[in-house]
Amino acid sequence: MALWGGRFSGPADSRFKQFNDSLPVDYRLVQQDITGSIAWAGALVQVGVLNELEHGQLIRALHQLAQEVTDEQILASGAEDIHSFVEQQLIAKVGDLGKKLHTGRSRNDQVATDLKLWCKDQGQELIEALVKAQQQLLTLAEREAQTVLPGYTHLQRAQPITFGHWCLCYVEMLERDLTRLKDALTRLDTCPLGSGALAGTAYPVDRFALAAELGFRGPVTNSLDAVSDRDHVVELCSAAATSMMHLSRMAEDLIFYNSGEAGFIELSDAVTSGSSLMPQKKNPDALELIRGKAGRVYGALMGILTTMKALPMAYNKDMQEDKEGLFDAIDSWLMCLDMLTLVLEGVKVNSQRTLAAAQQGYANATELADYLVAKGIPFREAHHIVGEVVLGAIAQGKALEDFTLQELQEYSDTIESDVYQHLTIEATLAKREALGGTSIKQVQQALALQAVSQIEV
Ligand code: ARG
Repeated sequence: MALWGGRFSGPADSRFKQFNDSLPVDYRLVQQDITGSIAWAGALVQVGVLNELEHGQLIRALHQLAQEVTDEQILASGAEDIHSFVEQQLIAKVGDLGKKLHTGRSRNDQVATDLKLWCKDQGQELIEALVKAQQQLLTLAEREAQTVLPGYTHLQRAQPITFGHWCLCYVEMLERDLTRLKDALTRLDTCPLGSGALAGTAYPVDRFALAAELGFRGPVTNSLDAVSDRDHVVELCSAAATSMMHLSRMAEDLIFYNSGEAGFIELSDAVTSGSSLMPQKKNPDALELIRGKAGRVYGALMGILTTMKALPMAYNKDMQEDKEGLFDAIDSWLMCLDMLTLVLEGVKVNSQRTLAAAQQGYANATELADYLVAKGIPFREAHHIVGEVVLGAIAQGKALEDFTLQELQEYSDTIESDVYQHLTIEATLAKREALGGTSIKQVQQALALQAVSQIEV
C-alpha cells in the first residue's frame, strides 16, 4: 500500500506508478534508511511520542530487517520507494506501532539524510581506493626509478624523463583527487533529519543529538535548505569527473606505451583481451574502458547540474533523479580505480625500448643549447644554432652526438670536445636537479616524501 492513499479516490495508473516509483534505483539506500529510522525512533522517545517499550520493539524490528533484507526481496515488493518499503516491512513485523515511526518526519528530510549517509559510506571506500592506486604507482615508481623514458609534448619526443617521474606525476593528481573528495565529504557532513517536509518538524527534537547519533558533525541549520540541497551530489560527481579525467589520461599514456609502435610496456594477460578475428591481437581493453567511462561520469555531473537548475524551493520530484547518475558515477569511479591498480600491478616495462626511444628524436637538443649558453652564447641564438644542427642531423639521418667535433664546429666554433659528455641521457637527467625535476636524486627524494605522507594517511 502507498504511504499516501487517503486523499485519493482512484488508483494510480500502472504506467504512472512505474514512471513514479524510485525503488529500482533507491533500493540501494536500504541500510541507510534503516539507520536513519533507528535514530528517528530515538528522537520520538525524547519528545514523548514513543514510550520505552514501543521504542524497544521498533528498534528490534529495524535491526532484524537490516540483518535479513535482500535486494531481491526489496525489488519484488512493488513498493514506491525504499522509504515506503522499510515502513511496510516494519508494519508487517510490529503492526500498528510501525505506523507511529513517521511522526514528525517526511520522506523529504528522510531521503536527504539517507543519501548523505550513503555518500559518507562511499566516501570512505573511495578514499581507500585512491590510496591503493597511489601505493601501486609508488611501487612502480620505485621499481622504475632509474628507467629512462622519453618525455613528450605535442606527442613529440621532447626531453628524457624517468618512468618513476611519470608515475609520481599521477600520484600528485590522485592526491588532489583525494583532497577534493575529503573536502566535499567535510562539507556534506551535516544532518537534514528533523527538518520535516520543508518547514521544520513540529516536535521539539534535539537535532544536535540526532545528528551526532547518525555520525554527522551537526545538523543542517535551515529546514528549506536541508530538504532541497543536493550540492553534495554535484560536488561528488564533480570530484569523480575530475578524477576520471586524470584516470583517462593515465589510461591513454599506458595505451600508447603499450602500442606496437612504442613498445615501452607490456600489459598483463589478466587485463587484456583478444580479437575474435585477428589472432595476434592483445587489446588494452581495461585501459580503454577506463578512458571511455570518463564520459558517463561527466554525463552524471552535467545531469545533476541541469536537473537542479532553477528548481524552486523546496523539494520537487525532479530531485528524485539525483541518485541514478550519482550511483553510476561513484560505481564507475571505484571500479576504474580498482582496475587501474590491477593494470599497474602487472605492467612490465621494456627499459631497452624506452631508452632507445629517448635517445632518438633529438631529445638532447635542449642540452646542446644549454651547453652553448654556458659558453656565453645568448639562449635565443643558441636555440637557433641548435635548430640548424638538428636540421643537418635529420638530413643525414643521425643523432646529434654522431656528428664529429669538426662537423659540429661548422655550426658554432664555440663547441669543444667536452660537448659529448653533455649530450648523454645521464647528463640530461642529472641536470634536472631543481625541486620537482626528473633527476634520479629528485625522484628518490619525491618517493621518500610520498612514503612519509602515505604513512600519515
Ligand atoms: N523517492 C523520493 C526521492 O527519491 C523521496 C520521496 C519524496 N517524495 C515526496 N512526494 N515528497 O526523492
